[in-house]
Amino acid sequence: MSLKLVETAPYEGQKPGTSGLRKRVSVFQQPNYLENFVQSVFDTVEGFTGKTLVLGGDGRFHNDVAIQTILKMAAANGVGKVMVGYNGILSTPACSCVIRKHKTFGGIVLSASHNPGGPQGDFGIKFNIANGGPAPEKVTDAIYAKSQALKSYRIIDAADVDLSALGTTKIGDMVVEVFDPVADYADQMASIFDFDAIRALFAKGFTLRFDAMHAVCGPYAKRIIEGMLGAPEGTVIHAEPLPDFGGHHPDPNPVNAKDLLDFMASPDATDMAAATDGDGDRNMIVGKGFAVSPSDSLAILTANAFLVPGYAGGVKGVARSMPTSAAVDRVADILGIPHYETPTGWKFFGNLLDDGRITFCGEESYGTSSLHIREKDGIWAILFWLNLLAKTGDSVGGLVEKHWQRFGRNYYSRHDYESVDSARANALMDHLRSQLDSLAGRSFGAFIVEKADEFTYHDPVDGSVSEHQGIRIFFTDGSRIIFRLSGTGTVGATLRVYFDHYDAKKLDLAPQAALADLIAIATEVARLPEFTGMTEPTVVT
Ligand code: G1P
Ligand code: ZN
Repeated sequence: MSLKLVETAPYEGQKPGTSGLRKRVSVFQQPNYLENFVQSVFDTVEGFTGKTLVLGGDGRFHNDVAIQTILKMAAANGVGKVMVGYNGILSTPACSCVIRKHKTFGGIVLSASHNPGGPQGDFGIKFNIANGGPAPEKVTDAIYAKSQALKSYRIIDAADVDLSALGTTKIGDMVVEVFDPVADYADQMASIFDFDAIRALFAKGFTLRFDAMHAVCGPYAKRIIEGMLGAPEGTVIHAEPLPDFGGHHPDPNPVNAKDLLDFMASPDATDMAAATDGDGDRNMIVGKGFAVSPSDSLAILTANAFLVPGYAGGVKGVARSMPTSAAVDRVADILGIPHYETPTGWKFFGNLLDDGRITFCGEESYGTSSLHIREKDGIWAILFWLNLLAKTGDSVGGLVEKHWQRFGRNYYSRHDYESVDSARANALMDHLRSQLDSLAGRSFGAFIVEKADEFTYHDPVDGSVSEHQGIRIFFTDGSRIIFRLSGTGTVGATLRVYFDHYDAKKLDLAPQAALADLIAIATEVARLPEFTGMTEPTVVT
């Protein structure tokens, strides 16, 4: 076993985006590509010599190869111990849970989240810090800077570790512990939710269909929902993690989980359905015939938190990403608790959680979580809904309707224009920027622009400033249109356009119809067909 210093040269573009470094598998397979990034992480992070690192991924293609490389590099860089998930499996929320519980200096998750997998798909790597959350921008910027000046990386020449055997072994002086990736996480869930009540619900014949989309959540959902909570076998479908996710797109939304939506609109529908994404941090909740809007889900969980033992002590505050609908703000105002608006990306919630300012946070992109970890958490959200259904005896649809009756409804939708030429997408954003000063006061039919700006976030905890976080058009009736470019795509640019419109009385419109005027305004103001080359968005959620 020998330590090697391998000469290398920088790769362009190793800049982590909204959530880690994501590229095509073929990009990661280039010589030294992964090694360069991993060395840049070790060169940036301080004080880890002799300490513990958590490691695992969502089981996608290249996961196993990358894990072996990272283990050997960790040993060469002086890490004391690596806890690696059995078979290389570790969900993003479980990684956060394990980092916090075992007080490790950080963790590495190998995932491209909801992006497709397989040899032609995407791969990704994300570094989480000691609080269990994604590295903040100052850390990811420093990692990027190191990657651009890298000359060599350190690795130990050693045999691969058998990831299919629980227990400990060594690479050089470093201990490798292959651990059960479900156990700590399942314990934490049992400590938050009323498992007795949920068990009783299933015992009464309540039915659930949980679609793990052949991604990381299968083993978690099997153990927790079918095992600990007694749901019948077969409740969890597509439970086996596969390197290509069975050819599916593991993104739990009504477009990519259409089969689940169709099933829930059929006479065979279960009482509730749910799905999670590649790495287990996203969730979709489905009632009979409809999917719950993630923005509504955050609001409903907040309004009903007193029914969950782990939150019976009260809710300190809530945060949502800027493009997420303002539904939760209304709940916060009535509960008399603060609400915060952050840029897109989970990392911006970290300071608010660490500072004890918020209990819940969420994004419109099917992400919700709480202070229990520092990532969004798919299974947590699903268990939360089960807990509410068990305590109220209501249905998914019943809970949503009662919520709207009490708080009013935020009609909400996101339109994505994918694979737009990057230069055209930037030109579109510049075109919008050029109108920011002249939009206020303009009317479009019944809608009058109150103001337009580009969102800059001032973190109230550490004072850091994040600019260019989306262009916003506010209307005098409280409606909003938001434009931003995705930070997670791997091909060209993805333009996201978000629509949010509140109605206190009309509660049963179809969202696209309720938002039709705003959609037409966005098309006109941004000259969408001209800049995107498309007459319709590629994905509507
Ligand atoms: C997308 C979502 C964002 C989420 C991120 C990681 O980022 O919009 O809410 O935090 O994925 O799951 P985007 O591609 O918009 O930058
Ligand atoms: Zn994810």
